[in-house]
Amino acid sequence: MFSRVLRPSLISTRNFSTSKQNNYKVAVCGASGGIGQPLSLLLKINPLVSELSLYDVVHTPGVAADLSHIETAAKVTGYNGPEHLAEALKCADVIIIPAGVPRKPGMTRDDLFNTNAGIVKSLAECAAEVAPEALIGIITNPVNSAVPIVCEVLKKAGKLDPRRVFGISTLDIVRANTFIAQEKSLNPKDVNIPVIGGHSGITIIPLISRATPAVSFPEDKLKSLTTRIQEAGTEVVKAKAGAGSATLSMAYAGARFANSLLRGLNGESNVIEPAYVMSDVTEAPYFASPLVLGKCGIEKNLGLGNLSDFEQDLLKKAIPELKKNIEAGVKFANQ
Ligand code: NAD
Ligand code: LMR
Repeated sequence: MFSRVLRPSLISTRNFSTSKQNNYKVAVCGASGGIGQPLSLLLKINPLVSELSLYDVVHTPGVAADLSHIETAAKVTGYNGPEHLAEALKCADVIIIPAGVPRKPGMTRDDLFNTNAGIVKSLAECAAEVAPEALIGIITNPVNSAVPIVCEVLKKAGKLDPRRVFGISTLDIVRANTFIAQEKSLNPKDVNIPVIGGHSGITIIPLISRATPAVSFPEDKLKSLTTRIQEAGTEVVKAKAGAGSATLSMAYAGARFANSLLRGLNGESNVIEPAYVMSDVTEAPYFASPLVLGKCGIEKNLGLGNLSDFEQDLLKKAIPELKKNIEAGVKFANQ
């Protein structure tokens, strides 16, 4: 399912040419942050991007001036402060949101809710007005609640198209690929592990039974690898010791996901990428599963597929936690 052809190339060449469109406007909200800056750099060198619109509440002019000197076609503009948000998002094809505070050691992603829920809500309100057709990718934590918030805001505005809103869970896949490759002495670029569920702790469900190439582990190793993938964000938070959470690997993952959205928009076929979306594949109303991406966002949700007994058990444990996270988001958006 996740063939090599789906692993996007993040680096463009100056002589890149294609018969397709190549003129998409991508907006990054939170562009001056730890994720926002390297993510914007990777988008600046993506040949599908013709306009890169950088929005933040601080430092955006400097980040935009810096990136604008890079010798690629994308035109860079910087917008600083809420009075310029509408201009930043206007008619964007893709909006990527890494705006908001990151964890410090000892915190859960849910501890970020009080600060980040309001940030995501106001960005979604503006997107509903000025870019109702945009594909929106949400990086901000807690992702499990932030995506329902954005969908509820769009619904209230009469602008919800559930095919267009995504929680970016790509970093879980990137990590799973890397850790499994390390264990089996494989090249990570040849490994694909679907990861479903949500993006926090026990809601992260790596499907190692569906690895490409097929791999197997004794039960204790399977358990410890699964826990490492589920807790990988915390591993980085601890290592950064108060200086934030994953930024560079997330920028890579965010750029990979944005590139998949753009390839789908551009009419490429067979673009498959898991993400956390409004869903009816389980009893949780939002769930991450592999998606076929196309001109309107989600073309097809590929659902759960076959799960091993071990993965069925992980799913059973994840659902109540996911439902709780989703309810918190829905409640916040409607209060
Ligand atoms: P950061 O503090 O370095 O950057 C956040 C940026 O958001 C800052 O530049 C800040 O000025 C900006 N910001 C704050 N309020 C804003 C608003 N109202 N509008 C626009 N911008 C605003 O944090 P970071 O390390 O870049 O992390 C950002 C978020 O991404 C956190 O919530 C973090 O938990 C999350 N994250 C998610 C994943 C994932 O896999 N989905 C991975 C890593 C981090
Ligand atoms: C991650 O998985 O790295 C992010 O969700 C950030 C975090 O707080 O762990």
